[in-house]
Amino acid sequence: MKGLILSGGKGTRMRPITHTAAKQLLPVANKPILFYAVEAIKDAGVEEIGIIISPETGNDVRETVGTGERWGVRISYILQDEPKGLAHAVKTASAFLGDSPFVMYLGDNLIKDGVAPLVQRFNAGNADAFILLKEVVNPSAFGVAQLNGNGRILCLEEKPAKPKSNLALVGVYLFNKNIHKAIDEIQPSKRGELEITDAIQRLIDTKFHVDSHVLTSWWLDTGKKDDMLEANRVVLDEMSDFVQEGTLEGNSIVSGRVHIGKGSVLKNCTVRGPAVIGSNCHIEESYIGPFTSIGDGARVSHAEIEHSILRESCRIADFNGRIEDSLIGLNVELTRGNRKPVAYRFMLGDDSKVEVV
Ligand code: DAU
Repeated sequence: MKGLILSGGKGTRMRPITHTAAKQLLPVANKPILFYAVEAIKDAGVEEIGIIISPETGNDVRETVGTGERWGVRISYILQDEPKGLAHAVKTASAFLGDSPFVMYLGDNLIKDGVAPLVQRFNAGNADAFILLKEVVNPSAFGVAQLNGNGRILCLEEKPAKPKSNLALVGVYLFNKNIHKAIDEIQPSKRGELEITDAIQRLIDTKFHVDSHVLTSWWLDTGKKDDMLEANRVVLDEMSDFVQEGTLEGNSIVSGRVHIGKGSVLKNCTVRGPAVIGSNCHIEESYIGPFTSIGDGARVSHAEIEHSILRESCRIADFNGRIEDSLIGLNVELTRGNRKPVAYRFMLGDDSKVEVV
């Protein structure tokens, strides 16, 4: 069994954040989303992993993820010249995959229980493909499956205007070598992409065995800002323990599950978990509320921050106000004049400078 993680694409839905960064490298609880995929695959006992990268963000992905040594896996990078679809990505990886069965994981997805039980079930059974489904309220935003009364898949459709069910395709799939022929037999969809959904439908049409499982635990597709904040909320909510490697000074009060990284100093702050503060942060006279992640090297003073993600090296100086439901990119500088406190919502790309006066 091999692993294939898709980390190409253009990330247009996360602009401006993804003008300068791969969306799969955005942090959830201070860890790049992509790392969760590598860890899930490794935990399933799969040690050879290919990562699809794009020309725009491929180097960043390579530099951040590396050779796989830190997880004890071998990672190869496979360049997809253009984001021509998930099935096109599989085609691009055909030399890497050979005839091996593989688990394919979309690099912007997170699932609670990992993939180990699914890999076991696939290896023990005789399915040619195995898909995961999850009930959602907005099926038109996903691939959608229609099942019969016995749980057999009748048909699959990619982002249908009139969905036949509320069962979305989750971005984790298992395939054997028969998927390659099915991909060769499909045409690009209306949006011009070679869809993996169509290739699986082709397997069904040509009498191959496609098995499915409906997830009951959480699954998150981190396509948009609010999805990222929700992923951050869910992952922080599962965090256990209080870990303090940094220093608390003055009248600082920390309650609940909070991680404070090495070299960080909090002076006269109140932190209410679950929250994570990276290493070498300097936070003064501030309130950090639940479901907040603050990246390494951030500096914050006179601010209230809740339910937000701040990336590394942000500087929020003398803000005198509340920031909530916000996603703030690398190196952002945010200052505000001495006005009466109000709440703001931001989505700020890397290197932004904002002054609210
Ligand atoms: O998240 C689950 C959904 O993922 C499924 O329900 C859909 O059936 C499936 O088509 C896919 O839809 P998305 O519109 O969310 O896919 P997206 O374009 O966001 O791409 C998913 C990941 O794959 C993302 O990390 C980028 C990467 N990718 C995408 C394309 C189109 C590539 O590496 N190459 C590509 O050509």
